[in-house]
Amino acid sequence: MILRQEILKVLKERSGEWVSGEVLSKDLNVSRTTIWKHVKALRDDGYQFESSPRKGYRIMAPADILSPEEVQSGLVTKVFGQKHYVYYRQIDSTNKHARTLAEEGYPEGTLVIAEEQTAGKGRRGREWYSPFNRGIYMSIILRPNLPLRQIPRLSLLTAVALAEVLEETGLRPGIKWPNDILVNGKKIAGILAEIITDMDGVEFIVLGIGININNSSDDFPDDLRTPPTSIMSELGMPGSRVELLQKLLLSLEQLYELLQTDHFTFILEKARRLSTVLGKKVQFDDSGVNIAGMALDLDENGFLLVQDEKGKVHTVISGEIDSL
Ligand code: BTN
Repeated sequence: MILRQEILKVLKERSGEWVSGEVLSKDLNVSRTTIWKHVKALRDDGYQFESSPRKGYRIMAPADILSPEEVQSGLVTKVFGQKHYVYYRQIDSTNKHARTLAEEGYPEGTLVIAEEQTAGKGRRGREWYSPFNRGIYMSIILRPNLPLRQIPRLSLLTAVALAEVLEETGLRPGIKWPNDILVNGKKIAGILAEIITDMDGVEFIVLGIGININNSSDDFPDDLRTPPTSIMSELGMPGSRVELLQKLLLSLEQLYELLQTDHFTFILEKARRLSTVLGKKVQFDDSGVNIAGMALDLDENGFLLVQDEKGKVHTVISGEIDSL
């Protein structure tokens, strides 16, 4: 264990109590200055300590930091985020890095997560705004045993997991087909699934998820296509990123197991309940032609069925839908 983690462990074990610099330095066999430097670094990471020249250090609130130490202690998944938990304070894009790891052979369930992304990728070449400590920016490597045509089921599954976990916080989220999670018409989370194929079909998938959690309403760029929101803006109080991540990983793993054992209908039913577009008038782009119609249903692969004004039913496979 590195020294910083050892200091943290001692302070957590005696949470709420003062631990003097002298005791820490004797127990861990380093100088008091070294202890002080590491406590300062932990503070920069977001941990909150009280310190007093006479009494030493005391840890305050539980830290909402997405490090493996904080998250794995309450993570009850079997595989997702367990053996391979790749954590960064800052990275360009977790999807980009997860892809490199997958190419190196990292297994299914590997989690890449960062406190901040400097070049977070959104769908259709857009950027995903990823400021330090405000949201969850994560990517999971999947190696599913599914035919290519069923892969879109994964995005829908992810949208269901996200919406259900957000519902538990007291919000009323909906899924705007195919990949957006909205609350009160504003975007709170997005999914970017990147599929890498080889001659035999799907080699691996990088499932990227971004969730806005503790952003204030003026904390977003102005030019976003769908107006953004966050848990904090909607509920008026901060959300626990650690708790949300633990729940999301569990829900994703459970739904993924259902998918692999041919229980997609169960997920589809949930997606229908959560959909913001079914039964509504929508428009979409079909190879440059704009088509308007009624969103009727989701088919067995999660594609959207839209009936146009002449009664023809279109199967919309990807792209973006606009409500009319
Ligand atoms: C969207 O445009 O709605 C999809 C957004 C996906 C953003 C996430 S954040 C973590 C992961 N890494 C990336 O670079 N993008 C995804």
